[in-house]
Amino acid sequence: METVTIDAIGKYDGRNVTVCGWLTHKRSSGRISFLVLRDGTGIVQATCIKGETDEQVLELYPELTQESSLAVTGKVQKDERAPGGYEVLVTSIEVLQIAETYPISPKEHGVGFLMDHRHLWLRSSRQHAILRVRHAVINAARKFFDDQGFTLLDAPILTPSSCEGTTTLFEIDYFGDKKAFLSQSGQLYMEAGAMAFGKVYCFGPTFRAEKSKTRRHLTEFWMIEPEIAFADLETVMKLAEGLVVAIVKEVLETRGQELHELGRDITRLEQIQPPFPVVTYDEAVQIVNDAGESMPWGEDFGGAHETIVSNHFEKPVIIHRYPAEVKAFYMKNDPDRPEVALCVDMLAPEGYGEIIGGGQREDDSTVLKEKVEKAELPAKDFEWYMDLRRYGSVPHAGFGLGIERTVGWICGLEHVRESIPFPRLMDRLYP
Ligand code: 4AD
Ligand code: MG
Repeated sequence: METVTIDAIGKYDGRNVTVCGWLTHKRSSGRISFLVLRDGTGIVQATCIKGETDEQVLELYPELTQESSLAVTGKVQKDERAPGGYEVLVTSIEVLQIAETYPISPKEHGVGFLMDHRHLWLRSSRQHAILRVRHAVINAARKFFDDQGFTLLDAPILTPSSCEGTTTLFEIDYFGDKKAFLSQSGQLYMEAGAMAFGKVYCFGPTFRAEKSKTRRHLTEFWMIEPEIAFADLETVMKLAEGLVVAIVKEVLETRGQELHELGRDITRLEQIQPPFPVVTYDEAVQIVNDAGESMPWGEDFGGAHETIVSNHFEKPVIIHRYPAEVKAFYMKNDPDRPEVALCVDMLAPEGYGEIIGGGQREDDSTVLKEKVEKAELPAKDFEWYMDLRRYGSVPHAGFGLGIERTVGWICGLEHVRESIPFPRLMDRLYP
């Protein structure tokens, strides 16, 4: 007997097949009983009819609990009313395991409970839809860079130094005599890569020991980070726009069913076409203050401010030239206006906030040395980074796109925690 996956079952109309899966629910109306199976590729109804289905199967029926694992054999038959359009007329069932009482039932559960059962929650159709969108986002992002001649260069996770500020570093004891840190960003290594390959990107997990319990913060998240030699702020602003357009396009083309399942307003995503609005930090501060806040020039946007700016536009908004003081040490200052950095953030619309951060890097060794000192970073750990300015320094720029925030926005999620299979938050390390 051929074992088939549910998504391919239509090709076996009229034939006998075996489907392996888990029981999502069952119902019986005396003579006919239905077993609904899922196998990760879809759901299918397995129909047992008194007089036609094996007696043994009918006797088994009362024992079959939710999430029991089964191999169901029977004839595939078209049925417009069945979910997926086909059903299996059961002849026999092999039980792999009768599941214990399943903790997740169709009734409402609190988020804490679901998060404690994340390993099981992943089986639900909503989580399935979100994580399949995530897959499409990642594929689209990689393809975008691959098609433009970028080389994938994996950055290390264990690093000797900070990249995005020492207050959010996870420290690790490295064989007793040294400290290591979990990478906050692959950027510094991508700068070395850009000097070797011209255009590179990394894609991997990054870590922030941020004591923030907001709907936008994870302690472990995935970032895709391109870096380009002989490039400036303008180049990466355009590149960031192109990337986000490509990601949304791919998700709309390949994951329409999942977006529908999530109840996402697709018309909002269909508007994500170039050009995106571009504003300076100064203009963005004005938008915040016009909304009734009193934000002084020179501060970074808080979560509430970000929401205001994000809501102000239909499309993602590109904000450039923040005060250098609030940005990381590696940013290049604007030669025409040294108090601002040649940096860029992109905020997703609908209140989702920052999804991209990046800019042009300081390429002058003397200035960079001063910046490292000012940031009170240990100079010796940055010697290799200084080398990049000693041996053929060139203007270069790049950015990082956070995968989870992008997925959260595209799926219309309330909290970023559902956009990653096993979220790590300040108060969540299990399962
Ligand atoms: O703005 P960030 O901190 O930029 C960097 O790390 C740069 N070194 C990247 C670069 O230029 N190569 O982070 C970039 C993006 C943010 O815009 C956001 O999408 C995501 O990473 N991000 C987080 N996502 C979830 N939880 C957190 N705690 C995040 N912190 C940043
Ligand atoms: Mg940022």
